[in-house]
Amino acid sequence: MAGPLKMKSNEAGRATDNAGDRVGKLLERGPVVVLSGAGLSTASGIPDYRDCEGRWKGAQPIQHSDFLRLESVRQRYWARSFFGWPTVARAAPGRGHHALAQLERAGRVELIVTQNVDGLHHKAGSASVLELHGGLAAVICLSCRARHPRAAVQDWLHAANPELAGNPAPVAPDGDAHVAAELYAGFRVPACPACGGLLKPDVVFFGDSVPRERVASAMAAIKAAAGLLVVGSSLMVYSGFRFVEFARREGKPVMAVNLGRTRADHLLDAKVEQDCDAFLDGLRMRLMPAT
Ligand SMILES: NC(=O)c1ccc[n+]([C@@H]2O[C@H](COP(=O)([O-])OP(=O)(O)OC[C@H]3O[C@@H](n4cnc5c(N)ncnc54)[C@H](O)[C@@H]3O)[C@@H](O)[C@H]2O)c1
Ligand SMILES: [Zn+2]
Repeated sequence: MAGPLKMKSNEAGRATDNAGDRVGKLLERGPVVVLSGAGLSTASGIPDYRDCEGRWKGAQPIQHSDFLRLESVRQRYWARSFFGWPTVARAAPGRGHHALAQLERAGRVELIVTQNVDGLHHKAGSASVLELHGGLAAVICLSCRARHPRAAVQDWLHAANPELAGNPAPVAPDGDAHVAAELYAGFRVPACPACGGLLKPDVVFFGDSVPRERVASAMAAIKAAAGLLVVGSSLMVYSGFRFVEFARREGKPVMAVNLGRTRADHLLDAKVEQDCDAFLDGLRMRLMPAT
């Protein structure tokens, strides 16, 4: 199969061929499903995992089974999250998030399927959002299934570990932060106040699976849409990649806006290698000239 039609930006950031036009024409044909990833949130101060070659930039993320099995892993997770959460809580949506919300209101976007857990699509005002991997804003009890707001859990973490609050911790992907091991070795992890059970953020960790009904509703939306537009994702994680395979099987066009390699490059009908904020904002202006 021929490779995707590519567009790179020149120094002025303008298109040098017409992959971008093809994305515009796709949205004119009918509403699309957007699959978004960490690249859309980097401008909001939340780092992504992979570089433009699709390689890991930092340490491996937490594994679901380790979190369930090991107290030391939970101490590490919650200590790092204690420092990482404020960045996510404060983050503001970028131009790309806002452009997608406006494109949805104009009937150009049917559903955003996001691999992100930062809640920024909702903050930007998008109504039709499927958080494939859940969201950091809620914490669930693994015993009684109570849902607790993450902001409340932050207070519990603080109350249990007041001596840690002033320490600096550089931000890492996914609501995480780099925290020295000696700081989290004695970290006190609060339990569910309702039943004493284990608390876990309401996100799908690596090694866990995405609930079946979420996958089914994303697929139903793709089936009904004009096509699939991937934004800011390397697609290295299968839970996102499968929607590209599915869209292809359904005969739907698949296009991507991403700086760097994706796992699906050979499956794309068009690829725009440009900053997704700049591109999506341009797309919004092109399709909604009055805004
Ligand atoms: N913001 C978040 O919620 C967040 C952040 C990090 C990781 N995660 C989780 O980790 C997994 C990571 O997979 P992924 O594919 O979403 O991310 P990824 O890190 O694997 O890929 C991000 C891609 O975006 C590109 N990119 C970065 N900045 C860009 C920009 N401004 N414009 C265009 N492209 C840009 C990168 O080159 C990379 O190819 C997901 O499952 C997600 O749940 C979430
Ligand atoms: Zn409980």
